[in-house]
Amino acid sequence: MEKSIISLIPLLFFLISLFLLVNGDLNVADFGAKGDGKTDASESFLKAWSAACASRAPTTIVVPRKRYLLGPVVFQGPCENSAITIRMDDAILVAPNYQKLGTLDSWLTFTGVQGVSIVGGYVNGQGSSLWACKNSGKNCPYGASSLAFYGSKDVGINGLTSLNSKLYHIVIHSSNNVTLQGVRIHAPEDSPNTDGIHVQSSTDVRIFSTGIKTGDDCISIGPGTRNLLIQRVACGPGHGISIGSLGKDPQEEGVQNVTVKTVVFTGTQNGLRIKSWPRPNYGFVKGVLFEQAVMKNVSNPIIIDQNYCPNNENCPNKSSGIQISQVTYKNIKGTSATAVGMKFDCSASYPCRGIRLQDIELTYQDQVAESYCKNVKGTSNGLVKPSCF
Ligand SMILES: *[C@@H]1O[C@H](CO)[C@@H](O)[C@H](O)[C@H]1NC(C)=O
Ligand SMILES: *[C@@H]1O[C@H](CO)[C@@H](O)[C@H](O)[C@H]1NC(C)=O
Ligand SMILES: *[C@@H]1O[C@H](CO)[C@@H](O)[C@H](O)[C@H]1NC(C)=O
Ligand SMILES: *[C@@H]1O[C@H](CO)[C@@H](O)[C@H](O)[C@H]1NC(C)=O
Repeated sequence: MEKSIISLIPLLFFLISLFLLVNGDLNVADFGAKGDGKTDASESFLKAWSAACASRAPTTIVVPRKRYLLGPVVFQGPCENSAITIRMDDAILVAPNYQKLGTLDSWLTFTGVQGVSIVGGYVNGQGSSLWACKNSGKNCPYGASSLAFYGSKDVGINGLTSLNSKLYHIVIHSSNNVTLQGVRIHAPEDSPNTDGIHVQSSTDVRIFSTGIKTGDDCISIGPGTRNLLIQRVACGPGHGISIGSLGKDPQEEGVQNVTVKTVVFTGTQNGLRIKSWPRPNYGFVKGVLFEQAVMKNVSNPIIIDQNYCPNNENCPNKSSGIQISQVTYKNIKGTSATAVGMKFDCSASYPCRGIRLQDIELTYQDQVAESYCKNVKGTSNGLVKPSCF
């Protein structure tokens, strides 16, 4: 008698998950996630993921409003399912310490998935002990990014808040058709390498209505990025929006068709930046529109730096192979925190060309800011102060 009941348990579980799936909702609590902030919930999340991934019906994984210690976890595709929503509302996911993440690239990793969206929620990378280790000059791990998508498509990240990542907050790599909207990112100004959003080797990525306060680049754009649209982003503190650094490795894909529109920089180290290492390379940056940016006390509001060589190490050529062309700066206004508000320090072997300036007004201490123009060709249109052409 007892035996037969026990043998029924797996069947019962199967029927329950089937029922839940027909319903379209899976709740991580039903898979054992406690949400007490202390018990590792990785297994429960992964079980919910497996069930969603195996289903062909659109599925929502519900994460109740609690605090979950989690990870590292890999949400692995490919899936039968191409419509999985992870609904977090006000749930908080908390990262383990950096020793536990070891040398992993990321804490919450999605790989090879299609049609996944994350709605709401908080991810807390608990970066402070790793930052303290790095700032003390000790030998520390490089750290793991908080949330990463690799080799994925049709992804949405909506209303997520990312706090205190150990390394980058959000990474979009080798993916396409990704929309981030209403995302908030927050880490201290002095936290090392805590880039807000890093996009690389990806096409058709859109970042809308996002606020980023962090210790490194608000958004960094790596090689192989195409058709990127950034709109309505507030950045600062942070190091600005940066294409690059590019050209660190000899073989790199170019960056093409990037639009950055309606952005505000407050007290950032840079505003709109393109930077490359002065090393031989066949990469390029082509077709960039920077439009409607407000600079509030930004150290380098407009900057192309093709001599990016920290500590002057390993840059024997002193000239970048990255060709930068067709970059438009339109309607950029505000204040610079340094005398030089516009700096084009381009490659001697591949001068910047097709740089277009239109309606620019940058001041430093109530005077027109200065420009620095090296190896740059282009045109200027309308009121442009300062200018290179
Ligand atoms: C992009 O992904 C969204 C889901 O996030 C989907 O609705 C849309 O159809 C996809 N677009 C293309 C061109 O595949
Ligand atoms: C360039 O990117 C935009 C998104 O910002 C996209 O709408 C457009 O189709 C892309 N252009 C080409 C030629 O791919
Ligand atoms: C690097 O230096 C070598 C030797 O001077 C030169 O032939 C080559 O064109 C340079 N490459 C670039 C990308 O400037
Ligand atoms: C502008 O930024 C500089 C440092 O970048 C800072 O010292 C100064 O106080 C800031 N000024 C204002 C008005 O915020």
